[in-house]
Amino acid sequence: MAKVLVVGNGGREHAIAKALLASPQVARVYCAPGNPGMRLDDIQTVAIDELAFSELVTFARQKAIDLTVIGPEVPLAAGIVDYFQAAGLAVFGPNKAAARLESSKVFAKQFMARHQIPTAGYQLFHELTSAIAYSREQPVPQVIKVDGLAAGKGVTVAMTRDEAEAALVTAFEATETVLIEDYVEGFEFSQMVFVGGDKTVLLPTAQDHKRLLDDDLGPNTGGMGAYSPVPQITPEILAQTVTTIIEPTIKGLKADDLSFEGVIYVGGILTPQGPQVIEYNLRLGDPEAQILLPQCQSDFYQLIVDLLQHRQPVVQWQTDETYLGVVLAAPGYPGPTKANVPVPTVPGADYASVAGEPGALVSAGGRLMMLGTHAVDLATAQHQVYAQLAQLTLGDLCYRHDIGAKGLTKT
Ligand code: GLY
Repeated sequence: MAKVLVVGNGGREHAIAKALLASPQVARVYCAPGNPGMRLDDIQTVAIDELAFSELVTFARQKAIDLTVIGPEVPLAAGIVDYFQAAGLAVFGPNKAAARLESSKVFAKQFMARHQIPTAGYQLFHELTSAIAYSREQPVPQVIKVDGLAAGKGVTVAMTRDEAEAALVTAFEATETVLIEDYVEGFEFSQMVFVGGDKTVLLPTAQDHKRLLDDDLGPNTGGMGAYSPVPQITPEILAQTVTTIIEPTIKGLKADDLSFEGVIYVGGILTPQGPQVIEYNLRLGDPEAQILLPQCQSDFYQLIVDLLQHRQPVVQWQTDETYLGVVLAAPGYPGPTKANVPVPTVPGADYASVAGEPGALVSAGGRLMMLGTHAVDLATAQHQVYAQLAQLTLGDLCYRHDIGAKGLTKT
């Protein structure tokens, strides 16, 4: 029986660990550093930071770990996969070179240009004055992006030139490279694919909710809820996404000598001209993973082992129901948050930035937990999850009340 290590501490890692623990081949799942909410599901948390590569490798060797799965982008961008591979350990995730597709927006834009992958036009700036001068001449809205990892908070859609200028000032405080991108109107979706050599496994399509407040108002966050599948992404649109984005991406990675075993996440937008890429992530989405992995009816451990060995996995996804989850966040998120706020214990929930003990969890960061459900259709799933939330004592924890609403609108 196998022993697995998951690296990360959020709701996505909770979902990955649960999916691996459900495999008949897996005896034990460790999560480093994990969070105390995971212990409700028999996941063993290990107090090692996700960037302490040497300690993680020592732990993996001591416990004879068969497979390590990396959840978050920060250790991937810092080269954790290269580190594990150099130590001769089996690890699922992109190496540092490939992870640049997520960690550098400029690198991603240049990759897409090189491989004719549809995406919005942009201009690159290394100093504020010329960025502001350019911005003043452009129509609004404008999209301001910092070139680096920003936990989903590095993008501003500026509706006025004043907003654009303020966003540029803030962006240049955080980084030396800023993109001003053309604003593209459309329907956003998340399409992920597991890859290993030339073998691929497409996941069901999902939709995230990046803004803090209902009706897509308020600041960007890491993601406030998700549902899957997405009615607007029909089989025809999915096929087009595969042909115009996913296949050229995989071919491009190979041509650029960047192939890896892990996840390609296309942050997509459906425009009148067809699907385009907003951004790449090279890992599972959070909160999308929490509603995608429970749809996998096959052995998830075997899926990863097959991809690591470049064998085509045989994977069955559920096709009869809609999965939907709502994120609960601490007061103040995505700014400074209130700590030690009680967080409810709900069997099956995916926990994130919590402290305390299982059964007496408290807030210790922004996103705290995701409450998920599945039902025969989207409207029922939405009704079910909000009915369950209404039964909980949530104090001043915050959450959106409209997760799934866009899936219920007619296109
Ligand atoms: N849900 C967006 C992300 O994981 O980056």
